[in-house]
Amino acid sequence: MSAMEEKVASLKAQIETFAGKEAVDVENFRLKYISKKGVISELFDDLKTVPADQKKAAGQLLNEIKKLAEAKFKELNESIGTKDTNAEEIDLTLPSIPNQVGSLHPLNLTRYKIIEIFERLGFSVADGPEVEDDWHNFTALNFPENHPAREMQDTFFVEKNPDVLLRTHTSNVQIRLMKQQKPPIRSIMPGRVYRNEAISARAHCFFHQVEGLYVDKNVSFSDLKQTLYHFAKEMFGQDTRIRLRPSFFPFTEPSAEIDISCLICKGKGCNVCKYSGWVEIAGSGMVHPNVLKNVGIDPEEYTGFAFGMGIERVTMMRYGINDLRLFSENDVRFLKQFKPVF
Ligand code: DAH
Repeated sequence: MSAMEEKVASLKAQIETFAGKEAVDVENFRLKYISKKGVISELFDDLKTVPADQKKAAGQLLNEIKKLAEAKFKELNESIGTKDTNAEEIDLTLPSIPNQVGSLHPLNLTRYKIIEIFERLGFSVADGPEVEDDWHNFTALNFPENHPAREMQDTFFVEKNPDVLLRTHTSNVQIRLMKQQKPPIRSIMPGRVYRNEAISARAHCFFHQVEGLYVDKNVSFSDLKQTLYHFAKEMFGQDTRIRLRPSFFPFTEPSAEIDISCLICKGKGCNVCKYSGWVEIAGSGMVHPNVLKNVGIDPEEYTGFAFGMGIERVTMMRYGINDLRLFSENDVRFLKQFKPVF
């Protein structure tokens, strides 16, 4: 008997006497004898080494043992009452599983709306880095060297290089834009900003702002006021009112905080506006002459207004959302309430 004949004879005996009661036995049988990596497949591979005159006989032998193994496999399957795993029945008449349609994040919906309103006023959209250096985030914006905003509790610094930080506001893009471009400049700059704050319903370590900048000859405070008034009416409805409160920012003079009449109570007073009837949505002001000088623009020739608006704040007002954390928790029950992508 040739070596091949011997192997086949022994396999035949093994297969015929194989006894299995459980599905796992049947699976083991399949793996050992039927699968592509099983012993019978291996023997087929060995055929290459069989001398030419014996190939035909050996091939027949292997086909027989293969058939025997398959017949045994079927028998085993029937005996344990399962079907051939490869022949699982598919019911083509069943309805398909519906695809989940995503929706746009409410912060994106607000950002798109803000961009749309300002584009119609002739503003372009600009972008800048979230990892920034001290000069663009603070110094060029006229922050004195010892200003508390530079301190660790507010700003995330890069440990190995305290000159590198995560921008604390989008005002850094104003600086980059004014360095690149000569007036007239009319741009908005949306983006993500970071602050070292404890996370709560009202504060987060990252959030979003949109910066606005208009620099040209004869830009005045009344342009700022009119632009933001127009924006508030387009964004929140024609009966929205705005209020400007004197404020302070190192990079604007004079500076003002912009409030809108509370949409929830229509100005009557509720817990969202803390019973004042007004909600703050932005900081703003006339670009400080020092800032213009820092970027090489002559403050005698040009003036400008700027503002920085909180996108979360606007979104909360728009949709009546009362907890900042909802924006970043990725809870589908929250997210799916907004407009679908398609
Ligand atoms: N950068 C300020 C902040 O994050 C917001 C701001 C205020 C931006 C006044 C401005 C501005 O451009 O003119 O609180």
